[in-house]
Amino acid sequence: MEKREQLYEGKAKKVFLTDDPECYIVSYKDDATAFNGLKKGTIVGKGVINNKMSNLLMQKLEKEANIPTHFVEELSDRETVVKKVSIVPLEVIIRNIAAGSFSKNYGVEEGVVFEQPTIEFSYKNDDLGDPLINDYHALALKLATEEEIETIKKYAFAVNDYMKAYWKERGVILVDFKLEFGRLSDGTIVLADEISPDTCRFWDAETKEKLDKDRFRRDLGGVEDAYAEIMGRLS
Ligand code: TMP
Repeated sequence: MEKREQLYEGKAKKVFLTDDPECYIVSYKDDATAFNGLKKGTIVGKGVINNKMSNLLMQKLEKEANIPTHFVEELSDRETVVKKVSIVPLEVIIRNIAAGSFSKNYGVEEGVVFEQPTIEFSYKNDDLGDPLINDYHALALKLATEEEIETIKKYAFAVNDYMKAYWKERGVILVDFKLEFGRLSDGTIVLADEISPDTCRFWDAETKEKLDKDRFRRDLGGVEDAYAEIMGRLS
């Protein structure tokens, strides 16, 4: 696979064209942002960890939970071939435990365990600050069709079922996470973007220590160690 010109640079990744019109190469950076880019920093080694974790989890989700993903092939520590998709501009968030914006918006203490997981959508639009929307808003804004929204919800809950059990076996509580989906050229919906400590909240099951990007967002220190620790739990 030959890497061609850069198509796009995001906050945490770059995307390159390739000699295959149906494939892109993504390259993971160590750059970290929070609060819609207001807070900026570097998490040394993050790109390597996010690349490897995302690839490992997506391969497992494909094989063991029948969820189609964009993953094709890991090229190196930071680079992966993915299927070309057009991203559905929705951030799909599943929560098992109250934390972050849920706690803030609804006045619920962090750590309250839900009887059932919740799902929510944000409109992926940096200029608007990724506002929370519902299914009807997504339809009105023509972000996705009704059928696509149903598929996305089904896949998101299936990812949660699989990942909750997977992380539990490794002494980690999956608090919440954000997913993004894309459309292949034929319209098929696949899981895209990444699954990493940037996009999930992971708490150590024993100590409840945060092993994710909240350490950066909240200036808790030990950011690199937390990324290394959560990566070390994978097998
Ligand atoms: P929140 O509680 O801040 O809404 O975050 C919910 C989950 O989504 C959490 O696991 C972190 C992840 N997330 C992202 O991946 N990207 C973002 O821009 C934000 C705000 C959250």
